[in-house]
Amino acid sequence: MCGIVGFTGGKQAAPVILDGLTKLEYRGYDSAGVAVSDKDGTIDIVKAKGKLKVLGDLTDGGKKLKGLCGIGHTRWATHGEPSENNAHPHCNDEKTIVAVHNGIIENFTPLKEKLMRRGYTFYSETDTEVATKLVDYYYKKYGEPLRAISEFALHVRGSYALAVLFKDYPGKIFAIRKDSPMVIGYTDGGAYLASDVPAILKYTRNIYYTDNHDIVLLSEKGVTFYNLDREEIKKDATVISWDAEAAEKGGWEHFMLKEIHEQPEVVKNTVNYFLHDGKLDLSELNLSEEYLKDIGSIIITGCGSAYHVGVVAQYVLEDLARIPVRVEIASEFRYRKPVLSGKELVIVISQSGETADSLAALREMKQNGVKTLAIVNVLGSSIAREADSVFYTKAGPEISVATTKAYSAQLIAMYLIALKLAKVRGAVAGEYYATLKKELTLLPEKIEKTLALKEEVQKFASQMMDKKDVFFIGRGIDYAVSIESSLKLKEISYIHSEAYAAGELKHGTISLIEDGTLVLGILTQKNLIEKTVSNLVETASRGAYVAVLASEKAEGIPEKFERIFRIPETDEHFFASLAVIAMQLFAYYLSVLRGNDVDKPRNLAKSVTVE
Ligand code: G6P
Repeated sequence: MCGIVGFTGGKQAAPVILDGLTKLEYRGYDSAGVAVSDKDGTIDIVKAKGKLKVLGDLTDGGKKLKGLCGIGHTRWATHGEPSENNAHPHCNDEKTIVAVHNGIIENFTPLKEKLMRRGYTFYSETDTEVATKLVDYYYKKYGEPLRAISEFALHVRGSYALAVLFKDYPGKIFAIRKDSPMVIGYTDGGAYLASDVPAILKYTRNIYYTDNHDIVLLSEKGVTFYNLDREEIKKDATVISWDAEAAEKGGWEHFMLKEIHEQPEVVKNTVNYFLHDGKLDLSELNLSEEYLKDIGSIIITGCGSAYHVGVVAQYVLEDLARIPVRVEIASEFRYRKPVLSGKELVIVISQSGETADSLAALREMKQNGVKTLAIVNVLGSSIAREADSVFYTKAGPEISVATTKAYSAQLIAMYLIALKLAKVRGAVAGEYYATLKKELTLLPEKIEKTLALKEEVQKFASQMMDKKDVFFIGRGIDYAVSIESSLKLKEISYIHSEAYAAGELKHGTISLIEDGTLVLGILTQKNLIEKTVSNLVETASRGAYVAVLASEKAEGIPEKFERIFRIPETDEHFFASLAVIAMQLFAYYLSVLRGNDVDKPRNLAKSVTVE
């Protein structure tokens, strides 16, 4: 959701910026722009509606824009339609102050009115033009860029990663962030700024993660950080261990397909990191056994697929650790006034660590004095830094908007936490505890085996590509997998789909079943198979085309069902990790067959930093 890139140093800036922006395409955008300043500070701006290719063609891959310092942006429209006029960078009337921004300025209306009273006019509908002109106002008032930026921060409400060029300061980029991601990189060749590491990883591995209200001054000579009082502050760089290739397609047709196939590795990495020589070691989380024993209940929150991991985890945690669990959609939970005892542990799940609603829910809970644990993939992200404890999943960079490997890694995180709780609370017998640990180490090869369903699933997808409605049904963990499967399908194939708890179907939704409607049943939970089969039969009797995904040994599946896909056996608590793989493949192939942009589905963004 919006991406920014900046560079200043010893080479032409525009090609570096355009290249960086392509690495952020996954974030979702509908227009793009770049601004470059030359030696005397004169700033050139080029913007275009649509894909980066349009901007690339206009500028000959950036070569037409001469200058060693610049900023660029991909915009995902919030205030104002996607258009060249609303695209960033935005500027003051004299084009002496030019800015790009990711985030939302919440009080932009009163600020705009204030500026209008002081004679400012506006050419776009964006909050970013207001932000730029606010910086201009304070720059004219105080004659100093750092002061202008800190005054900006003191007067705006909302979220921002803002990068600004001042004509009076050639070769320098001034930046600030609050609640929107911004990383800084530095090499001998210059300084870089970006919304996410992959955009600049090709040039440097030395990354500074910025904190809220850090002001950054980038120049060819280096990077300097200031606080809002404009006092210099010291920050340490992190050396990124994964390489640029991890964020490249590497021969795969799509990032999604690559990431689907990375799942055995990702699951292995996450399991092995915390489980070695048969010992489960979660000491990195800094949660003492006394504390874990004493937790009264668990609240899990997140958005999208992260929330769906929570739904799986609810079944696993309650059953294994015998602890009350509730799962809440972050955008709802943050506005509720939950009755809290103070003995809850709130687990916030987020791949990006930047999802606005999940971050807000976390803050809300912290304000209530409740302990928080984040399950996050992106190092140094806001949620990771603000939570009391962090479980970092080892999924590596996930580029495809539709999450696959991060979801799988989050499941593992939840299984490990459930096992730990089960053990310290004495809820699981020693022998079974050992079996579960062993089973986790076997999951990677079972995921690999599930991936071998690929061709069968692809063929099935080609037969189903004209379906208008798809229903996913299951009970227990199979229901939890159904909601994720349905989301995946909707996100990238644009086929309407519903996920239903199998027993709930006949309370209304069964009226939607028509001749040929595809109903996909998930049958991995031994005790529930018979019940779900009955519900599937009910839909078949009304004309549904029924296909099922079942474990190898699942029995009692009527032959009259049109298709049966089998996945390897595992412990019943871990089946989501296998079932979801087949469903990801199904969504993927349908999307490809329908000619969709698999990695960048329409209207969606990878990291949703607005509410
Ligand atoms: C977006 C993505 C989803 C993701 C959700 C939560 O909607 O498209 O794939 O599940 O955000 O993102 P998070 O980064 O918090 O896991």
